Amino acid sequence: IDHLLTLDGLPRAAIESLLDRAQRFADGQIARDRLAGTAVCTLFFEASTRTRLSFQLAAQRLGADVLNFDASTSSTSKGETALDTLRTIEAMGVRGFIVRHRVDGAVAELAAHAGPDTHLVNAGDGRSAHPTQGLLDMLTLRQAKGPDFSRLKVLMVGDVKHSRVARSDLQALRALGVGELRVCGPLALLPVDDGTLAGCGVSDDLDAALEGVDAVMMLRLQRERMDDGLVASLEDYHRDYGLTGSRLRRAAPDAVVMHPGPINRGVEITDEVADGPQSLILRQVANGVAVRMAVLESLLG
Ligand code: CP
Repeated sequence: IDHLLTLDGLPRAAIESLLDRAQRFADGQIARDRLAGTAVCTLFFEASTRTRLSFQLAAQRLGADVLNFDASTSSTSKGETALDTLRTIEAMGVRGFIVRHRVDGAVAELAAHAGPDTHLVNAGDGRSAHPTQGLLDMLTLRQAKGPDFSRLKVLMVGDVKHSRVARSDLQALRALGVGELRVCGPLALLPVDDGTLAGCGVSDDLDAALEGVDAVMMLRLQRERMDDGLVASLEDYHRDYGLTGSRLRRAAPDAVVMHPGPINRGVEITDEVADGPQSLILRQVANGVAVRMAVLESLLG
């Protein structure tokens, strides 16, 4: 593939091949020369900590030259378009772009106008897709539960409606043949009629949804993408959908807890769970570097 824009439609074999390679990087295989002489740019028009920094580290570990574009201090503040920005940086000889944008489809639109030797990775567009987050979540789940997902019951909780992570995770879980998918949240935050939740058991009762699950994937309330009034109050949300230690005991005894970050502590998850023994949250972050090495190598190597 020329670009990684979404996991939608990516074959299981392609996903597993990227995860296998990422696991080798996670195990310490260094490939410092794989992208030597190649320049990549993190082109972020929206804030990030994990994705931007782990892509930088991944590219550096592959030997690439890394440029960091910060929209707030760039000439976009003088009116330059995203496409002119891309073309300007392309003209410097940069071949790889890791792009985040608040508008759905914006990264695909840039990819459609990029030069033939340019490769784009979608680092999150609007509420549509965050494919490397989906991949790193699958690597984390695979490490914890083994490669056969067909016996797993996975529950996703929270604001699916506004979440690109949720869409990429659900696509990846289906592609890898997960046994059972459950989704839980306030009905106003569950997109029941656009195909996102196809094949999922849908519920607004978290205590019931947690019964016997092997993995709980928590989501942040995406208040920056939300119309006012969708959530009555953060206190009510926490009461009904916050993952607490006592609630987690309804899941399987060896259930794992995941969250893509950033966390709203005390809203969707308590400190006790986020920092507890069942939490894989920092393992997800660590795996982000390995997965992004595998993706960059695959596109640019
Ligand atoms: N999970 C994630 O995409 O985090 P950042 O917004 O910090 O990159």
